[in-house]
Amino acid sequence: MSTRVSLSMDKDWSFHPGDVKEPLQMTHSYIYNTSKAGACPGVPQEDFDAREWETVNLPHDWAVRQPFSEASAANWGYKSGGKAWYRKVFAIPEKYRDKELTIEFEGVATHAVVYFNGSVIHRNFSAYTPFQIDISDRAHFGSRPNVLAVFVDADVWEGWWYEGAGIYRHVWLNIKNPIHIPQYGLSIRMEETSENTWKVNLFTNVCNQTDKDTEVRISTTLVDPDQELEVNINNEGVICEAGEESQVETEFTIEDPKVWDIEEPNIYEVITKVFVEDELVDSDRTVCGFRTIAMDPEKGFLLNGRPVKLFGTCNHQDFGGIGVAVPDSLHEYRIERLKAMGSNAYRCAHGLPHKELLDACDKMGMLVIDENRNFETSEEGLEQLRTMVLRDRNHPSVIMYSIFNEEPLQGTEEGRRMAHTMREEIRALDDTRFVTGAMHGGIDLEESAVDSLDVCGINYQTEQYDSFHKKHPDMPVFASESTSSFSVRSCYEDNEETHMISSYDEHAADWGRTVRQTWKDIMARDFMAGAFMWTGFDYLGEPTPYTWPSVSSYFGMMDTCGYAKDAFYMAKAIFSGKPVCHVLPHWNHRGKEGQIIRVMSHTNCEEAELIVNRKSYGRKKIDLFEQAEWQVPYQPGYIELIGYRDGIKAAHDVKITTGEPVRLKIVPWHRGMYNDGRDAMPVNIYAVDEKGRGVPDASFEIDINVEGGVILGTCNGDPTCHEDFGSGHRSLFNGRCQAVVQAEEGASQMVISAVAPEVEFGSLMIPLSTRKTEPFVESIRQQYLTGWKMTAELYEEKPDVNMHVDEFDMNTWMDVQVDEKAGTPAIFEDQEGKYGIYRIRTHIPDRINGRLPVLHFESVWGQCSVYVNGELRAETSNEWPGPLDVDMQEKDTGTAEIRVLVKSLNFHAGLHSMVVFR
Ligand code: GAL
Repeated sequence: MSTRVSLSMDKDWSFHPGDVKEPLQMTHSYIYNTSKAGACPGVPQEDFDAREWETVNLPHDWAVRQPFSEASAANWGYKSGGKAWYRKVFAIPEKYRDKELTIEFEGVATHAVVYFNGSVIHRNFSAYTPFQIDISDRAHFGSRPNVLAVFVDADVWEGWWYEGAGIYRHVWLNIKNPIHIPQYGLSIRMEETSENTWKVNLFTNVCNQTDKDTEVRISTTLVDPDQELEVNINNEGVICEAGEESQVETEFTIEDPKVWDIEEPNIYEVITKVFVEDELVDSDRTVCGFRTIAMDPEKGFLLNGRPVKLFGTCNHQDFGGIGVAVPDSLHEYRIERLKAMGSNAYRCAHGLPHKELLDACDKMGMLVIDENRNFETSEEGLEQLRTMVLRDRNHPSVIMYSIFNEEPLQGTEEGRRMAHTMREEIRALDDTRFVTGAMHGGIDLEESAVDSLDVCGINYQTEQYDSFHKKHPDMPVFASESTSSFSVRSCYEDNEETHMISSYDEHAADWGRTVRQTWKDIMARDFMAGAFMWTGFDYLGEPTPYTWPSVSSYFGMMDTCGYAKDAFYMAKAIFSGKPVCHVLPHWNHRGKEGQIIRVMSHTNCEEAELIVNRKSYGRKKIDLFEQAEWQVPYQPGYIELIGYRDGIKAAHDVKITTGEPVRLKIVPWHRGMYNDGRDAMPVNIYAVDEKGRGVPDASFEIDINVEGGVILGTCNGDPTCHEDFGSGHRSLFNGRCQAVVQAEEGASQMVISAVAPEVEFGSLMIPLSTRKTEPFVESIRQQYLTGWKMTAELYEEKPDVNMHVDEFDMNTWMDVQVDEKAGTPAIFEDQEGKYGIYRIRTHIPDRINGRLPVLHFESVWGQCSVYVNGELRAETSNEWPGPLDVDMQEKDTGTAEIRVLVKSLNFHAGLHSMVVFR
């Protein structure tokens, strides 16, 4: 018996933007027949023709490819949602017949109705919540296909930012034995009981879907970060009752483990195996990390016993050019960029993130505030909350669960009760993390949601820090949101007409602060556990302070591509213990010779000296939050900032006037990548001068081309740019742009080139390698006719094949399945000489591969005559089952009635196998 199998359902979906409405028929037979299990008309049916639909792979965000439109909302980056259908037809091998089969959707934006084999099988109403659907009793096995169809309504919203549209995270087909570990069925607790000694409790849930009480044995392996076996434990047998879910606890002690920390994120892996009578029936794995977390009302956050200021950013999930359908590897890219800024904490604003983001945070040492989207205590709201905790509770990076953000009920008694309900729900599943909420008011009221939290998050409202601490001296507090400053990468002049905002860290929203002010407030208060700047990355939507034609936000420390703005260095200077020295602006100011340019430091050195074209402008004492400025008349050449610590040069930064752009240069994130159709990578494209130096003010259009791969999206970080994210045609914005590329499956190399009229082209070869990944479920693209009815009575005399069927007669014809394994076989037995009639109403496609379709019966038995809309079209006489092809005619297109008259010639007769248009 093999163990579980997970097959990727990401490939080859048929996609149709907009709804596909079946013409409503007002007849009794139609209404009666479509009210049954498996009978939802239209797209979910096997005979639906989706051949003309676009083929897409997941993750997929259709909104990001829509044109920007002023008619849409600024919040959504002037992209529109709409509605769409996805459809995938696939086979499930016979060998999986007695297994538990589930389809797991990791995220669909926004409202999804899932149909499986003609029935609504699930509805999901949060884009941030994964869901799993059991299809075990509805699946078809062997040759009969399965139809999975998803109707997505993205005209509804859950947030006020760009949320994307479609099946934007992975989908899996999971196959497990009847005795198995259910989804999220492993949970682990580690507790340091004495110095360097940890008690580990692993809870394994086991489902027994058989009808027998069964003894199972659990074996647990703990693998350390160097892939060495740390512990191998075999539990004694436990009886799991038939039809029940049981929990098996394994306890062990670990001495001196490698601790998980932000600098050294040591991850352990737990592998759990379930045996029945020495046979392995299932196995699952989870990550875990040995670390302690505490929240102290005076000292703030403590990681492994030491105070760690949370140098955080809030982030939405979309990425430049890609929207929300972020490929797995890009989460690592984003976390790498934030770590490069010195950030150590990430708030998932404002909803459950991709699970791969948490994997990246575990792996790279980034602390996480996991956030729930909907502040609701309805059954659905609590289910969303539970899903967050169940999915995420083993990640060492997760330190807090946030249950709301700026809720109108936050300052009410009702809000307090709701927060209480939600906290209780969380604690029942995980009492090792803190529950918080992001308040932007109401914290000084007699009663508020704060009373139900472990830790209070304050959004903005700096003036509340001290008063809150005074009023709640025993409650830990942090700035769950702060900053909301504005800047544009490499932009040093404000321009209200072009919506450009300069980068001197001096513009912020009325409710916000500059980067420096933010941290000045936080660093002065030990009790403030830290702050989460709004935001690490620019994102689509909320182009505050502007609206159209601005489409993306100005808040990021980085732009939408992850390119550092100057604010990145300001933050880094504050976060980093190591010397940081950054000078701004760039030194390309053609035509401004003699004009005064404002030069500014972003450094954590004690003193800084500015040299301009070999001349010193003097050394200044640096206040970390004030920084230093010089007024410098512009002459081409260079500016250099030298930072001193203890009087010694500790760091420096230079900006040189470059020459004209002469060439395009392509710099990949990594030198190589995988050719598995999933890996993706950002490549950065720069305009360089004859000395190979990036030209910071170059802005011209280029064309990017990829051989051996595809462009998933292009972007340049310009918040006002309206170019098509899906196109390789893209402007450089202030010297650069980016393409996210993916290799073709199986290709050995990928070549990226970038061309522009007056400069030399750039080109880059990316070597590709293979890796083992889960197989993809292949799609079938055929229109199967499966909804046949057959006369309940068999006739001694040849009946009128086109006999009238009364509208209200639901009983003289029976539903039959042409798939012989499906129950009611469409054949009749031992009725030699008798007649039966089959009929189906279906849609005949206009053309298949450019020609009139052929109705193909894989196997018919007996003497058969096929009628289309009352006309005889084909006849055959088979002593044994044989195929039959019927050519369709020009006039047949559209809805038609097909009837087959069958006379039994011997012991069997009828439709013996699948019927398909081809
Ligand atoms: C906050 C809100 C964020 C974002 C931000 C912009 O009030 O929580 O989602 O809108 O303002 O400054």
